[in-house]
Amino acid sequence: MVNMELIGADILDLLDNKGAFFLTGDENKLNVMNIGWGMIGYLWSKPMFIAAIRPSRYTYSFLQEKPEFNVCFTKGALNEQLMIVGTKSGRNIDKRNIAGITYIPSKTNSTPVIKEADFTIECKVVYSQPLDPNTLPEEAKKSFYGGFNAEDVHTMFYAEITDMY
Ligand SMILES: Cc1cc2nc3c(=O)[nH]c(=O)nc-3n(C[C@H](O)[C@H](O)[C@H](O)COP(=O)(O)O)c2cc1C
Repeated sequence: MVNMELIGADILDLLDNKGAFFLTGDENKLNVMNIGWGMIGYLWSKPMFIAAIRPSRYTYSFLQEKPEFNVCFTKGALNEQLMIVGTKSGRNIDKRNIAGITYIPSKTNSTPVIKEADFTIECKVVYSQPLDPNTLPEEAKKSFYGGFNAEDVHTMFYAEITDMY
Protein backbone atom coordinates (compact mmCIF):
# COMPACT_ATOMS: atom_id res chain seq x y z
CA MET A 1 0.00 0.00 0.00
CA VAL A 2 1.29 3.41 -0.97
CA ASN A 3 1.19 5.88 1.92
CA MET A 4 -0.21 9.03 0.28
CA GLU A 5 0.19 10.92 3.55
CA LEU A 6 3.87 11.24 2.69
CA ILE A 7 2.90 13.89 0.13
CA GLY A 8 3.04 17.07 2.16
CA ALA A 9 2.84 20.73 1.24
CA ASP A 10 6.65 20.71 1.19
CA ILE A 11 6.70 18.30 -1.77
CA LEU A 12 4.15 20.34 -3.73
CA ASP A 13 6.14 23.47 -2.91
CA LEU A 14 9.32 21.94 -4.34
CA LEU A 15 7.49 20.98 -7.53
CA ASP A 16 6.08 24.46 -7.93
CA ASN A 17 9.22 26.39 -7.03
CA LYS A 18 12.00 24.49 -8.74
CA GLY A 19 10.60 21.28 -10.17
CA ALA A 20 11.73 17.69 -9.78
CA PHE A 21 13.83 15.12 -11.62
CA PHE A 22 11.70 13.09 -14.04
CA LEU A 23 13.44 9.84 -14.94
CA THR A 24 12.57 7.57 -17.86
CA GLY A 25 14.16 4.52 -19.49
CA ASP A 26 16.24 1.88 -17.76
CA GLU A 27 19.80 1.26 -16.58
CA ASN A 28 21.05 0.88 -20.16
CA LYS A 29 19.22 3.78 -21.76
CA LEU A 30 18.22 6.47 -19.32
CA ASN A 31 17.03 10.06 -19.62
CA VAL A 32 16.22 12.73 -17.03
CA MET A 33 14.49 16.10 -17.31
CA ASN A 34 12.93 18.63 -14.95
CA ILE A 35 9.16 18.76 -14.46
CA GLY A 36 7.41 21.65 -12.76
CA TRP A 37 3.88 20.60 -13.59
CA GLY A 38 2.28 17.52 -12.14
CA MET A 39 -0.77 16.40 -10.21
CA ILE A 40 -1.14 13.92 -7.40
CA GLY A 41 -4.45 12.35 -6.38
CA TYR A 42 -6.77 9.45 -7.15
CA LEU A 43 -8.32 8.03 -10.30
CA TRP A 44 -9.97 4.66 -10.89
CA SER A 45 -9.39 3.89 -7.19
CA LYS A 46 -5.64 4.15 -7.64
CA PRO A 47 -3.16 6.71 -6.31
CA MET A 48 -2.00 8.65 -9.37
CA PHE A 49 0.67 11.06 -10.55
CA ILE A 50 -0.23 12.96 -13.72
CA ALA A 51 2.67 14.51 -15.62
CA ALA A 52 2.46 17.01 -18.50
CA ILE A 53 5.15 16.34 -21.11
CA ARG A 54 5.60 18.17 -24.40
CA PRO A 55 6.12 15.87 -27.42
CA SER A 56 9.32 17.77 -28.31
CA ARG A 57 11.09 16.44 -25.19
CA TYR A 58 13.51 13.56 -25.74
CA THR A 59 11.85 12.13 -22.61
CA TYR A 60 8.60 11.79 -24.57
CA SER A 61 10.12 9.12 -26.84
CA PHE A 62 11.28 7.21 -23.75
CA LEU A 63 7.72 7.14 -22.42
CA GLN A 64 6.51 5.77 -25.76
CA GLU A 65 9.02 2.93 -25.48
CA LYS A 66 8.56 2.16 -21.79
CA PRO A 67 5.45 3.50 -20.03
CA GLU A 68 6.94 4.15 -16.60
CA PHE A 69 8.76 6.95 -14.82
CA ASN A 70 10.10 8.03 -11.46
CA VAL A 71 10.04 11.48 -9.89
CA CYS A 72 12.86 12.48 -7.52
CA PHE A 73 12.85 15.62 -5.39
CA THR A 74 15.75 17.57 -3.93
CA LYS A 75 15.49 19.99 -1.03
CA GLY A 76 18.52 21.88 -2.35
CA ALA A 77 21.63 19.69 -2.58
CA LEU A 78 20.95 18.83 -6.25
CA ASN A 79 19.69 22.23 -7.42
CA GLU A 80 22.53 22.67 -9.89
CA GLN A 81 21.92 19.23 -11.42
CA LEU A 82 18.18 19.97 -11.61
CA MET A 83 18.98 23.08 -13.64
CA ILE A 84 21.14 21.06 -16.06
CA VAL A 85 18.50 18.41 -16.76
CA GLY A 86 15.85 21.11 -17.19
CA THR A 87 17.78 23.18 -19.72
CA LYS A 88 19.71 20.62 -21.78
CA SER A 89 18.25 17.80 -23.85
CA GLY A 90 19.39 14.20 -23.62
CA ARG A 91 19.67 14.40 -27.39
CA ASN A 92 22.77 16.56 -26.89
CA ILE A 93 24.25 15.36 -23.60
CA ASP A 94 24.30 12.01 -21.84
CA LYS A 95 22.44 12.67 -18.62
CA ARG A 96 23.72 9.43 -17.11
CA ASN A 97 26.99 11.22 -16.40
CA ILE A 98 26.10 14.26 -14.32
CA ALA A 99 28.46 14.86 -11.39
CA GLY A 100 26.73 14.45 -8.03
CA ILE A 101 24.00 12.10 -9.23
CA THR A 102 24.11 8.35 -8.53
CA TYR A 103 21.47 6.26 -10.27
CA ILE A 104 20.31 3.19 -8.38
CA PRO A 105 17.58 0.59 -9.07
CA SER A 106 14.05 1.55 -8.09
CA LYS A 107 11.79 -0.74 -6.08
CA THR A 108 8.82 -1.28 -8.41
CA ASN A 109 9.82 -0.62 -12.02
CA SER A 110 12.86 -0.86 -14.29
CA THR A 111 13.61 2.87 -14.35
CA PRO A 112 16.39 3.97 -11.97
CA VAL A 113 15.99 6.53 -9.17
CA ILE A 114 18.47 9.05 -7.73
CA LYS A 115 20.29 7.89 -4.60
CA GLU A 116 20.87 11.46 -3.33
CA ALA A 117 17.18 12.49 -3.68
CA ASP A 118 15.21 13.55 -0.61
CA PHE A 119 11.91 12.10 -1.81
CA THR A 120 10.98 9.69 -4.60
CA ILE A 121 7.75 8.67 -6.33
CA GLU A 122 7.73 5.56 -8.55
CA CYS A 123 5.08 5.29 -11.26
CA LYS A 124 3.64 3.12 -14.04
CA VAL A 125 1.77 4.86 -16.84
CA VAL A 126 -1.74 3.50 -17.30
CA TYR A 127 -3.15 6.09 -19.74
CA SER A 128 -2.03 9.06 -21.78
CA GLN A 129 -3.92 11.80 -23.56
CA PRO A 130 -2.68 14.81 -25.54
CA LEU A 131 -4.38 18.09 -24.59
CA ASP A 132 -6.73 19.22 -27.36
CA PRO A 133 -5.27 22.36 -29.03
CA ASN A 134 -8.78 23.40 -30.15
CA THR A 135 -10.28 23.60 -26.68
CA LEU A 136 -7.42 25.11 -24.69
CA PRO A 137 -8.29 28.11 -22.52
CA GLU A 138 -7.29 31.30 -24.37
CA GLU A 139 -5.06 32.41 -21.52
CA ALA A 140 -3.09 29.14 -21.51
CA LYS A 141 -2.85 29.27 -25.29
CA LYS A 142 -1.40 32.77 -25.16
CA SER A 143 1.03 32.08 -22.35
CA PHE A 144 2.22 28.56 -23.12
CA TYR A 145 1.40 27.60 -26.70
CA GLY A 146 2.31 30.65 -28.78
CA GLY A 147 4.87 30.97 -31.58
CA PHE A 148 7.29 28.05 -31.80
CA ASN A 149 5.32 26.19 -29.12
CA ALA A 150 2.00 26.24 -30.99
CA GLU A 151 2.27 22.62 -32.12
CA ASP A 152 3.99 21.41 -28.98
CA VAL A 153 0.97 20.90 -26.75
CA HIS A 154 1.50 18.77 -23.65
CA THR A 155 0.45 15.15 -23.40
CA MET A 156 -0.85 14.16 -19.98
CA PHE A 157 0.61 10.91 -18.67
CA TYR A 158 -1.58 9.30 -16.00
CA ALA A 159 0.51 6.96 -13.89
CA GLU A 160 -0.28 4.72 -10.96
CA ILE A 161 1.98 5.49 -8.01
CA THR A 162 3.57 2.16 -7.13
CA ASP A 163 5.80 3.34 -4.30
CA MET A 164 7.02 6.46 -2.55
CA TYR A 165 9.62 7.08 0.09
C1 LIG B 1 11.73 24.35 -13.64
C2 LIG B 1 11.44 23.62 -14.92
C3 LIG B 1 10.24 22.93 -15.05
C4 LIG B 1 9.92 22.24 -16.24
N1 LIG B 1 8.73 21.57 -16.34
C5 LIG B 1 8.42 20.89 -17.48
C6 LIG B 1 7.21 20.15 -17.57
O1 LIG B 1 6.41 20.03 -16.61
N2 LIG B 1 6.92 19.55 -18.77
C7 LIG B 1 7.77 19.62 -19.86
O2 LIG B 1 7.45 19.04 -20.92
N3 LIG B 1 8.94 20.30 -19.77
C8 LIG B 1 9.31 20.93 -18.61
N4 LIG B 1 10.51 21.58 -18.50
C9 LIG B 1 11.45 21.58 -19.65
C10 LIG B 1 12.35 20.33 -19.73
O3 LIG B 1 12.85 19.95 -18.46
C11 LIG B 1 13.54 20.62 -20.68
O4 LIG B 1 13.07 21.01 -21.95
C12 LIG B 1 14.52 19.46 -20.79
O5 LIG B 1 15.71 19.95 -21.34
C13 LIG B 1 13.99 18.33 -21.64
O6 LIG B 1 14.97 17.32 -21.68
P1 LIG B 1 14.93 16.10 -22.71
O7 LIG B 1 14.86 16.67 -24.11
O8 LIG B 1 16.22 15.38 -22.44
O9 LIG B 1 13.73 15.27 -22.38
C14 LIG B 1 10.85 22.25 -17.32
C15 LIG B 1 12.06 22.94 -17.18
C16 LIG B 1 12.36 23.62 -16.00
C17 LIG B 1 13.69 24.34 -15.88
